[in-house]
Amino acid sequence: MTQTETVSPISPAAPGQRKPRDWSDGKMRFGVFWPGARTQLPSQRIADMNPDPLDLNEHIAMARTCDRIGMDLVLIGDGYAPSSEEGSKIGFQDPGLHAAILAAPLLMATEHLGVLSTLHTTYFAPAQIARIAANYDWLGGGRWGWNIVNGYRDYEASLFGYADLPNSADMYDATDEMIEIVMSLWDPSKRTEFEGKYHRAHGKLKGPYPSERPVFVCAGASDRGKRFAVQHCDYLFASPTEISAIPSVAADLAEKAADAGRDSAPEILMVADVFVRDAPGEARALFDDLMNSFAETGAGKTWSTQIGKLRAEKKNPVKFPNFVGTPQEVADQLIAAYRDHGLKGVIFRMPVWSEAEIARLGPVFDLLEAADVRVHPRDRAHSW
Ligand SMILES: Cc1cc2nc3c(=O)[nH]c(=O)nc-3n(C[C@H](O)[C@H](O)[C@H](O)COP(=O)(O)O)c2cc1C
Repeated sequence: MTQTETVSPISPAAPGQRKPRDWSDGKMRFGVFWPGARTQLPSQRIADMNPDPLDLNEHIAMARTCDRIGMDLVLIGDGYAPSSEEGSKIGFQDPGLHAAILAAPLLMATEHLGVLSTLHTTYFAPAQIARIAANYDWLGGGRWGWNIVNGYRDYEASLFGYADLPNSADMYDATDEMIEIVMSLWDPSKRTEFEGKYHRAHGKLKGPYPSERPVFVCAGASDRGKRFAVQHCDYLFASPTEISAIPSVAADLAEKAADAGRDSAPEILMVADVFVRDAPGEARALFDDLMNSFAETGAGKTWSTQIGKLRAEKKNPVKFPNFVGTPQEVADQLIAAYRDHGLKGVIFRMPVWSEAEIARLGPVFDLLEAADVRVHPRDRAHSW
């Protein structure tokens, strides 16, 4: 946005405005991995192309454009510590706003968009999560969801007094308990009395209470993480290096869901880059060039180790699927992924980001709608 506009938020959703959740239409869903920092990749060149991440008006303009073009959801990732000193110098992941704070203006500026905030289970007490989530459920009329992460960065856990993070499976066990408490605290008919191995909670939480459980998502990649997802989550973020991996992720989830006695598995949202330009050949040339701009930097090498650990991907730690080209080419690539690999959900990472970049996805969505693989959230009776 070039000028400062007064933000005129909509009021918290009226009860009748709330739409039920339903993904049984089998259509595609799209989200944006919200650009919370100057750059999501450790590249000075990319950073120079992006706006100031602390400009609230830019965030609001982007959210409104998401709403207008029919983006289904946005994911506000979060972490507490910078990736590296060198990364911070170019605005890589730092500075960036807290996911529990940035969600408020995004919800208030939009009508249909789902907003997911990352809240770390290890750094919050269950009653805090229950209260923040219940307040957001009220503010967004059911359009807010929780990205459940335990935390995996040692250099962040130390901020909270941890010498070492507990092992990942134990953290999922603790999060199972946390969810039991949160669900109980949302039941106004009773006091919560919980004594677990990791958490304790006794008493009653004051309202408001969500009328429907807010959307729960997670990105469990380990066996234990996927079992957790199957038990509790509506969506799973998957981060394979190739789209062709999606059917095996889906089969694994279906098997785990059956083992857990659940009727259905979480829907998969795959992380992928997106880059659209109108002139043929332009998007691919620029995208490839930008992707080659960080491998040899110190910040790039540090991040490569960090993201490789997160994705359990040593061979190609920074390789993500991508949808790159003209609007028609990107729509064709998405339709092919849907038809050939059963890909129904994508969470787009946008290396170059701004309101104008999000607007470039509008024509892509129109083409997908014409091909009958997606519906604008405004035009359906259900959310998410
Ligand atoms: C799309 C996506 C988003 C994630 N967002 C965050 C985040 O914002 N903060 C965080 O600490 N971890 C985040 N993670 C890491 C996951 O919570 C998780 O630790 C990781 O996928 C490894 O899974 P595991 O815990 O089963 O080993 C994210 C992972 C993916 C794939």
